[in-house]
Amino acid sequence: MTPHPRIPGHRFLHSPGPTRVPDEVMDAMRRQPMDLADPRLDRVIQACEAGLKALLQTTTADVFMYACNGHGAWEAVIANLLAPGQQVLIAGTGHFSESWAVQAEAMGAKVLRTPWREGYPIDVPAMEAALRADTAHAIVAVFVVHTDTASGMTSDLASIRQALDAAAHPALLVVDVVASLGAAPFAMDTLGANVVLGASQKGLMVPPGLAFVAADSAAMKVAAANPSPRFYWDWARRQSPLSYRKFCGTPPQSLLFGLEAALGLIFHEGLEHVIARHQMIAGAVHAAVEAWSEGGALSLFVREPAARSVSVTTVSVAAGIDPEALRSVAREQFQVAIAGGLGPLAGRTFRIGHLGDMNPAMILGCLAGVEAALRVQGIPIGSGGVQHAVAALAGEVTGKR
Ligand SMILES: Cc1ncc(COP(=O)(O)O)c(C=O)c1O
Repeated sequence: MTPHPRIPGHRFLHSPGPTRVPDEVMDAMRRQPMDLADPRLDRVIQACEAGLKALLQTTTADVFMYACNGHGAWEAVIANLLAPGQQVLIAGTGHFSESWAVQAEAMGAKVLRTPWREGYPIDVPAMEAALRADTAHAIVAVFVVHTDTASGMTSDLASIRQALDAAAHPALLVVDVVASLGAAPFAMDTLGANVVLGASQKGLMVPPGLAFVAADSAAMKVAAANPSPRFYWDWARRQSPLSYRKFCGTPPQSLLFGLEAALGLIFHEGLEHVIARHQMIAGAVHAAVEAWSEGGALSLFVREPAARSVSVTTVSVAAGIDPEALRSVAREQFQVAIAGGLGPLAGRTFRIGHLGDMNPAMILGCLAGVEAALRVQGIPIGSGGVQHAVAALAGEVTGKR
């Protein structure tokens, strides 16, 4: 085998998942597997469950962890809550709401969608209208993606809860926090979410392969009444003190060791600090992109500043610019891995991930690498992108915009 040539120094991973894994998490994963009856394994699992509940800010929901990715958690929710032919209302947020909708349809659910307007958050009045129109209360659940990782947009979940309450509709509120947990504020019980799902590889700073669902008693009741066959995903089957039953088989031990360590890092830093750090870093990215945009070729995809994600920034490119070529130059020449556009935004956008194990110097390195790649590609950009990011991090008001 030809060895990979060594690339000197640190490679900057700015995909919005998988994200960089902290050394402490890597170290925790570097342990031999344990015998399934080892009480230390039970303690790790309990620590992960307790840590996830604390992070989700729920004292009432049950947490189910799965050896799977985010699509698996989506499938768990669909399999437990929706029998074929039953209805779900999915709020349009872009590629990820649509992918979840397609998956629900593939499993036999009847999906109602609210329209998605590019660059804008969820159409809450359309959601409320759909709920009010459903006088028979056939809609079992409302599925919402908190941060749509393709659009780079975070929705106001409280307004969606209010729409459900205003319509006096009993549908369950199900929230995908895959891209927002550990980055944006989220509190399951205060919000009144019935089900929340997430995955390991983004704000949780753990390698891909572990996902979870938290379900409250209302959701457990709906699941108990759902006659459709299921086994691996079944919440009732996983309600067991035995780790083998909890995971419907052998637990993904290394990922659990990593998750325990990652949750420890988040709580050691302090959740409020973690959230403030994400806001600060996102502010630097937005400042740089706004400065670049003055060249006329780029723009922030999300139009409403309040809806811009603290996890990922989606940048639109003018017609004729190839974002994939830009990504290649950024990755191969400058060691900065950024993401491309997904679904309807493929070929029209690129994305900068800035969540998880991230600090100001890392984001400046990323932005400098992207700026260099933009120049190599001859893409017209306004001057001083990186300087504006520096100013934002330094807390200075540049007066430019
Ligand atoms: C918001 C959101 N939900 C779900 C998924 C699906 O997760 P996975 O790719 O782990 O299956 C992703 C993946 O990026 C995501 O960003």
